[in-house]
Amino acid sequence: MSDRFDWSSEPELIDVRDEGRSRAALEALGEQTWREALDWLYGEAMRRPMHGQAYPESRASFFGAANRPAPAPISPTRWSEVLEEFRERVAPATFNAQHPGSFSYFTPPPLPSSIAGEVLAQWIHQGVDVWHAGPIGAFVEEEVASWLRDLVGFGPDGWSVLTSGGVMANVMAMTMARDIWLAKLRGLPGPPRGAALEGVRVYASDQTHFSIARALGVLGFPDDTLVVIESDEQFRLQGPPVAEAIERDRGAGLTPLAIAAVVGSTNTGSVDDTPGLADVAEREDVWLHVDAAYGGAARLSRRDAHRVPGLERADSVTVDPHKWFFQAYDIGALVVRRREDLLSTFHRAPEYYASNRPEDEPLNWYQYSIEGTRRFRALKLWMSWKQLGTAGLGALIEQNDDLAAYLAARCEAEPDFESVPAVPELSVVCFRHLPADREGWSAGMLDEYQVRLQRALEISGEAWVSVTTLRGRRFLRAGVVNYLSTEADIDRLLAALRRLSSDVLADLDLG
Ligand SMILES: Cc1ncc(COP(=O)(O)O)c(C=O)c1O
Repeated sequence: MSDRFDWSSEPELIDVRDEGRSRAALEALGEQTWREALDWLYGEAMRRPMHGQAYPESRASFFGAANRPAPAPISPTRWSEVLEEFRERVAPATFNAQHPGSFSYFTPPPLPSSIAGEVLAQWIHQGVDVWHAGPIGAFVEEEVASWLRDLVGFGPDGWSVLTSGGVMANVMAMTMARDIWLAKLRGLPGPPRGAALEGVRVYASDQTHFSIARALGVLGFPDDTLVVIESDEQFRLQGPPVAEAIERDRGAGLTPLAIAAVVGSTNTGSVDDTPGLADVAEREDVWLHVDAAYGGAARLSRRDAHRVPGLERADSVTVDPHKWFFQAYDIGALVVRRREDLLSTFHRAPEYYASNRPEDEPLNWYQYSIEGTRRFRALKLWMSWKQLGTAGLGALIEQNDDLAAYLAARCEAEPDFESVPAVPELSVVCFRHLPADREGWSAGMLDEYQVRLQRALEISGEAWVSVTTLRGRRFLRAGVVNYLSTEADIDRLLAALRRLSSDVLADLDLG
């Protein structure tokens, strides 16, 4: 055994060539690290959903008196000491998706089998890029991609590709709309650029995710390309106002390019009328993209799939398994009706990726994505999907939907709570506490009260919800995407809000 790693106090954790020396040490490292994770899970994560420190305090706790990042470490540290630092400085300051009172953004707890799959994926380290860099990674992703394609309901010509998340999938979808559809509409020989991006219109609701606007900006479209259409009273985009806007824009000599629907909006979980929008898209010859980053998972449930109809009528669909498939970060997906669309948009042929045996026609995933080398994201989903089955994943979705309905029904039944909309379409509930003696309050005061109540809840550690704004008014937002929560946790949430109310009221300047 050479001494080339002897500068380290634990060369056996670096040099894996000598199994006799390193295997036991690596097993111990695995055990210690996994145990550390479980100590965090059953300690910090089950204690409270979120630590109570506000941002400046939390920052000062991590960075210390200097309040800025420390310089990179020059000398090695033993793994046990690094773990100790994790225990002291990182573990106490987490957001804890696993806490049953955690009603988060779209950040559900990951399944333990997904975490285990992630660990294996990192060990085998398949770069999912050119086939030779991750041969088995290519196949597992192909299989998972076909499961997602089937879930969305596209036929054998469909395809999908894993992404870093929903934002990347939306950017890629808008790229396809630009390079394929706009080129077709404008009769261009190649992908439109520069002046060819002017006078184009893309339609989305006021509930669309920010990434649609970001995508259009990144792709070089002028700011007025996105036409924001008011959603209905249930926060859904309907076909008729989109059809009207398209007609108006055509009349003005503009080029309607795409409709970007959202199925499971970030604010309220609202589901745009995809079948109605698909009719408009077909009639008007525009691209239909559906951002089902969250809501697409409802297709896992036979009972609840009908809540997200029409996905199969889109040209492209974003589905984000690190949302409601309970996956470890990160894993998103773009699912497309025609495999060819991805290939013709993203395919490049660098000489260093020339195939040794082109006749084998290997699947080179880099040709289907903006990204090059991608992590072996598919393995954790492949393993955990096998472990639970579609039926098991669907059961978790149904429990969340039922729990959200329970929260909304309680808000409806109790005089001091209200929810909007009264019946959730999926598993997000926006609601407000209405204290009894709020006579004479301005609307702004009630808004401020919700914000302070959320902070009081966070400090209490009893549960966690976020705050959002709907039509200018503040609401508490419960993302019921936690498969560990039960009705008792919803009861605890409402009880905690009521209990915290009096202190919040006392602090609120009622003048
Ligand atoms: C509807 C919707 N689309 C896209 C995204 C972006 O997903 P990501 O943050 O995984 O990139 C989100 C995130 O919450 C979302 O709610």
